Amino acid sequence: MAEKNNCAPPTNLNGISRPGKGRVVIKPKNMKGTLIRLWKLTKGKRKGLGWILLLSALASAASILSPYITGKAVTAISKQDMVVWILACLTGLYVCDWLVKFMQAFFMASIGQHMIHSIRETLFGHIRSLPLSFFDRRQHGELMSRLTNDVDNISTTISSSLTLLLTHGFTILGIFLMMIVLSPLLTLVALTGVSCIFVLTKVVTKRTRKLFSCQQKSLGALNGQVEESVSGLPLIKAFCREEEMECDFGKKNDELCRISIKALIWSGYLMPLMNVINNLCYVAIAVFSGILFLNGRIDSVGLITSFLLYVRQFTRPFVEIANIYNNFQTAVAGAERVFEILDEGPEPADCPDALSLASCRGDIEFRHVGFGYTPDQQVLKDISVKIPAGTQVAIVGSTGSGKTTFVNLLTRFYDVTEGNILLDGHDLREYRMTDLRAAFGVVLQDTALFAESVKDNICYGHPEADMERIRQAARIAGADGFIERLPKGYDTILEQGGLELSQGERQLLTIARAVLANAPILILDEATSSVDTVTEQKIRKAMLKICENRTSFLIAHRLSTIRDSDLILLIENGQIIERGTHEELMDFNGQYAQMYRTQAGEE
Ligand SMILES: Nc1ncnc2c1ncn2[C@@H]1O[C@H](COP(=O)(O)OP(=O)(O)OP(=O)(O)O)[C@@H](O)[C@H]1O
Ligand SMILES: [Mg+2]
Repeated sequence: MAEKNNCAPPTNLNGISRPGKGRVVIKPKNMKGTLIRLWKLTKGKRKGLGWILLLSALASAASILSPYITGKAVTAISKQDMVVWILACLTGLYVCDWLVKFMQAFFMASIGQHMIHSIRETLFGHIRSLPLSFFDRRQHGELMSRLTNDVDNISTTISSSLTLLLTHGFTILGIFLMMIVLSPLLTLVALTGVSCIFVLTKVVTKRTRKLFSCQQKSLGALNGQVEESVSGLPLIKAFCREEEMECDFGKKNDELCRISIKALIWSGYLMPLMNVINNLCYVAIAVFSGILFLNGRIDSVGLITSFLLYVRQFTRPFVEIANIYNNFQTAVAGAERVFEILDEGPEPADCPDALSLASCRGDIEFRHVGFGYTPDQQVLKDISVKIPAGTQVAIVGSTGSGKTTFVNLLTRFYDVTEGNILLDGHDLREYRMTDLRAAFGVVLQDTALFAESVKDNICYGHPEADMERIRQAARIAGADGFIERLPKGYDTILEQGGLELSQGERQLLTIARAVLANAPILILDEATSSVDTVTEQKIRKAMLKICENRTSFLIAHRLSTIRDSDLILLIENGQIIERGTHEELMDFNGQYAQMYRTQAGEE
C-alpha cells in the first residue's frame, strides 16, 4: 500500500499560533493522473473556472497593494490632502477586495457543488450496476466511507481549498515582485531569514508530527475499542467480560492520555520558540533596513514600512498553503478511491438481441456447471441436472456445501464459470437481465428489510399491489398474526430495518414478499430456519399451495420440511451426490437416509 498516514505539521510562522491538532493526511498514489481525471470532470464549466482564476488574482490584489499604499501614506504624512486621498484609496481597495471574494465564493459554490452532484450521481448509478462479486471483495464500512467521506472531502476541497490555494499562490508571487521592486537588497536579506525559518520549522514539526501521529493512532485504537464494546455489549455481559473490557479500555485510555500530554507539551514548548525566532528575524530585517536608510541606500521611511508589512505577509500564505495542501492531498486521495469504484466493470450488459421472458414456463437444466467465487477455489463442480417445469426441488447438504451458491447462479447474481444453465431451452445469459430476475421470487438466506413500513416491505418491487393483495400474501406466509399485533399494523415503520422484529418474524415478512411477487419460479433459502415447528408446518402447507405448478427451489436443513418435494438434491463439496424423491433416497440408504434418521431421532 502506498498510502501513508502522517499528520499535518502544526506550523507556526509570523505569530500565527496553531495549537497543532493532529490531522490525518492520506497521500494519493497518483496525484497527476487523478488531477487530470478531475480536470476532465470540469468539462463544460471551464469558463467559470477561468473566472475563478481571474478573481483569485484580483483577490490577492488587496494583500499585495495595501502595504505599498500604507507606505506611501507614511511618506506623505506631512501632506494632509495626500494622506486623505491615500486612505480613501485604501478603503476602496478593501471594499473591492470584499466584493471580489464574494464573487469568487459565488462561482466556486456553484461550480464545485455541480461537480460533486454529478460525481455523486455517477458513483451511485455505477454502484447499482456493479456485480455482487464486487461487494464480496469489500467491507461495507469501507464502501460507505467512499460514498460519503471521500465525496464530502472532494466537495470541500473543490469549493474552498482550491480558491484559497490560488489566491495564496498569487499573493506570494505578487508580494515577492513588490519586494524586489522596492529593494532587491532587502529582499535578499528577507529571503535568507525566511529560509532559515522554514528549515527550523521543518525540523521542529518533524518532531511534533510524529507525536501527533502517535496520538491519532492511539485515539483510533481507543475509538475502536469503544465501538466494539458498545456493539458487543450483550456478548460481553453474557460472557462476564466486563472487567476485562474495562481494564483494556483503561490501558488504551492511559496510553492516549500519556501521548497527548507529551504532544501538547512539545508543541507548547516549540511553538513559542518558533515565534521568538520568527520575531528576531523580523527585528533583524527592521534594523538592517534602518542602517540602509541611515546610509542613504533607502530614500524613505515609507518604503521601510511597506517592506516590513510585506515581510509580515510573505510567510503567512506559505503556512496556509502547507495546511490547505494537506487537505488537498486527502481530497485527491479520496477522489482516487472514488475513481477506483468507477473503474470497476459493471454487470455484463444484455446481448443486443436479448430475449424477453414474458411467459416463463420454468424448465431448468444445469449442464456440467462449474463455479468458483475466486478462480482458485471451485465451489460447484460439474453439476448436471434437469428440472422440468413445475418441479418442487429441495436442496439439502451440510453447511458450506454450495446450496446458496447453486441458487445464486439461477438468478445470475453470479455467472457460471463452466458449463451452462438453461431456462426454457435458452442459456440464462441470452435473456434480458431484468426479465430474468423478475421471473424469480426469492427469499434470501440473509433476511433483508428496509426502514419502511411493513406494507412497503411486503410489496417491495410491486408498489402497485393493493392492500388486499398484501394482506393475502401475509396470510399465506403466516405473517398476518404478528403484523396485526404491531402498534400500527401494516403501517408500522421498521425504524431499525427489521432489527426490532424477531428473526422468525423477519423471515415471515420476506416470505410474504416472495408470495406477493407471484413469480413463475420460487427460491426459498432457509426460509423457515428460524420459525417454530408449528409455524413451519403452517408455512409448509401454504408453500405447497403456492409452489403448485411452479418450479421451486427449497433449501432447508430440517429435512422434515422438504419430505414431500418432487426431487431432492443432496449437495456435498459442490457436487450432487444423491438425487431422487424422499422414498427413493431412503431406499437407497445413503447419506440422506442417515441424515434423515438422525434428525427424526432427535425430534
Ligand atoms: N461471496 C463469497 N465469496 C467467496 N466465497 C464464498 C462466498 N459465498 C460463499 N462462499 C464459499 O462458498 C462455499 C459454499 O457456500 P454456500 O453459501 O453456497 O454454502 P451453503 O451450502 O449455502 O451453506 P449454509 O448451509 O451455511 O447456508 C463456502 O465454502 C463459502 O465459504
Ligand atoms: Mg446457504
